[in-house]
Amino acid sequence: MCSLKARFIIISIIFLSITFSSVRSEEKTKLIQVDWSFKGITGKFDRSSLQRGYQVYAEVCASCHSMNLVSYRNLGEPGGPEFSLEQVKAIAANFEVEDGPNADGEMFTRPGRPSDKFVSPYPNVQAATAANGGAYPPDMSVLVKARKGDSNYIYSVLMGYEDAPADFQLDDGVYYNKYMDGKKIKMSNPLSDGIVTYADGTPATESQMAKDVTTFLTWTAEPHLERRHKMGVKVVIFLSIFSLLVYLSMKRIWSRIDSEK
Ligand code: HEC
Repeated sequence: MCSLKARFIIISIIFLSITFSSVRSEEKTKLIQVDWSFKGITGKFDRSSLQRGYQVYAEVCASCHSMNLVSYRNLGEPGGPEFSLEQVKAIAANFEVEDGPNADGEMFTRPGRPSDKFVSPYPNVQAATAANGGAYPPDMSVLVKARKGDSNYIYSVLMGYEDAPADFQLDDGVYYNKYMDGKKIKMSNPLSDGIVTYADGTPATESQMAKDVTTFLTWTAEPHLERRHKMGVKVVIFLSIFSLLVYLSMKRIWSRIDSEK
C-alpha cells in the first residue's frame, strides 16, 4: 500500500511544479534582457515610468503610430499611469476629435473628452502607409503582445539602430537595425537624447525613453497585468495550503489503516 502513498506524493509534486513553472515564462532569444518591474509573479508597473512613457508616445510615436483600442479615460484607471481626472481631461482636451453630424448634417470637430479613443495620426491604413514610404506604422495598442519577445523586443528595436556594415545594401528610407528581420527597418530612429523634457526631471536619455515607452506599451497591451499578478499570488498561496491540507489528511487516514493491519 505504500506505493499508493508514494504515487500520491509524486502526483502532488508534479501538480505543484506545473503550477509554478506556468507562472514564470521567459523566451530564450538574444534580445536585450531588461529587468522590468512588471515581470514575475509579484511584478507591478512603475507608475512614474508609465506616465513618462505616455509622454514619449504622445510627443514622439503618436505622429505615426495609432493606438485605436485605448481611450483617454484609461490613462486614469487603476493599474495604469493613474493620471488624475483633471489631468486626463486636460490631456483629452488637447486633441481635436471629429464628431457629428450636427443638426445640419455636417461633421464638426470639438476638443477631446476622456471617453474618446486616442486620436489617430492618419485617417486610414493606406494614408499611413503612403506617408511612410510604403511601410505601415503598426497600431500600438497591443503591439507588445503581437511580437515574439514582448517588451524586450520593443526595447531592443528602439535600441538596435547602428551603422550598417560596409557591405550591407540599404535603400533610401531603410535603416539598419539588428533586431529586425533581415536587419532592416523602414522607421528612422525615433529617439535621441533629450527629444522630450520629462516633467519629473528624469534625464531623457535614449535608453530611459525606450524603457519608459516600452513600459507604457506593455500596459496598453495588458491593462489588467497587475490584477492578474495579484490573482496569481493568491492562487499559488491557496494551492500550497490546499496541498498541505490534503497531505496531512492523507497521513491521518493512512495512519489509521496502517495501525489496523
Ligand atoms: C516618422 C514615423 C514614425 C515615428 C515617429 C515612429 N515610428 Fe515606429 N514605425 C514606423 C514605421 C513606418 C514602421 C514600420 C517599419 C517597417 O515595417 O519596416 C514602424 C515600426 C515600428 C516598430 C517595429 C514593429 C514591428 O513590426 O516589429 C516598433 C517597435 C516601433 N515602430 C516603435 C516606435 C516607437 C516606440 C516610437 C516612438 C518612440 C515610434 N515607433 C515612432 C514609423 C514611425
